[in-house]
Amino acid sequence: MPARCARTGGGLVAKSDLNRSILGVYKIIPWATTIIGLLVFAILAVVLLRFRDRPGAPLPRQIHGHTAMEISWTIAPALILLIIAIPTIQVIFKTQSAASPKGALEVTVRGWQWWWEFRYPSLDVVTANEVHVPVGRPIVFVMEGPDVIHSLWIPQLGGKRDVVPGRVNRITLTPDTPGEYWGQCAEYCGASHANMMLRVIVEEPAAFDKWVAAQKAPAPEPAGDGVTGKEIFAKSACVGCHTIRGVSAGGLWPTTNENVAAWGKDPVKLKPGSKMPNLNLSDTDSKAVAAYLMGLK
Ligand code: CUA
Repeated sequence: MPARCARTGGGLVAKSDLNRSILGVYKIIPWATTIIGLLVFAILAVVLLRFRDRPGAPLPRQIHGHTAMEISWTIAPALILLIIAIPTIQVIFKTQSAASPKGALEVTVRGWQWWWEFRYPSLDVVTANEVHVPVGRPIVFVMEGPDVIHSLWIPQLGGKRDVVPGRVNRITLTPDTPGEYWGQCAEYCGASHANMMLRVIVEEPAAFDKWVAAQKAPAPEPAGDGVTGKEIFAKSACVGCHTIRGVSAGGLWPTTNENVAAWGKDPVKLKPGSKMPNLNLSDTDSKAVAAYLMGLK
């Protein structure tokens, strides 16, 4: 499993219009500083050669006060700042727009300690840590914070934006390349902050519709070990918090039978500070519950 940051791919690859705009601004700075750096070194080279120490050359004359030079070295940095500021402000306004574009898909995002909840109000679908979106359609993430401040950050799709209790923040983007994009909570939110990952699956509209239909379908009946697992699940404290519908996988650990069993047996060991209590399931019981949950995929 690659390192977490490596999984997000970094923000220098743009897979949405939003990240393309942000990268456009970002790229001005290295170009501008390269040009300025080359100019400075060129002038320095000329000065070093022209005024080098030669036998019989007069001593350099110290000058005091040179209005033209003083004005120029005040105006030049102001111009450079302006070159960076104008596109930056344009992108800030563009990406802060509160209006949803026509035909946009709205996804409500809630940051919880320590997982992501995604709701599709128009589709009646809810997922955790995994969000599917169709390629080429504007997506509006409407962010609400039920507990502490989190920050939604999917580097290749753009971001980040804080999820703040008591207010609603929005982020609008149109993904342009199908694929799987990892995201990470980008605001320290407690013991398992670094474990608060998410996955965005950008897919063709037909595949997305198929996924929506699968999410709405009733859960398949378990077989084998899963039958006992379902009974344990239904009798245990699990049902106090969880209901089973179309199922999506979490972000942090690969969803394997072993990991799901380990999670069920001792959540805090995998996610320090987790509010999911340790229900003291036996090895056999946690394996059976894992078999049941894995059978839902
Ligand atoms: Cu949620 Cu950091």
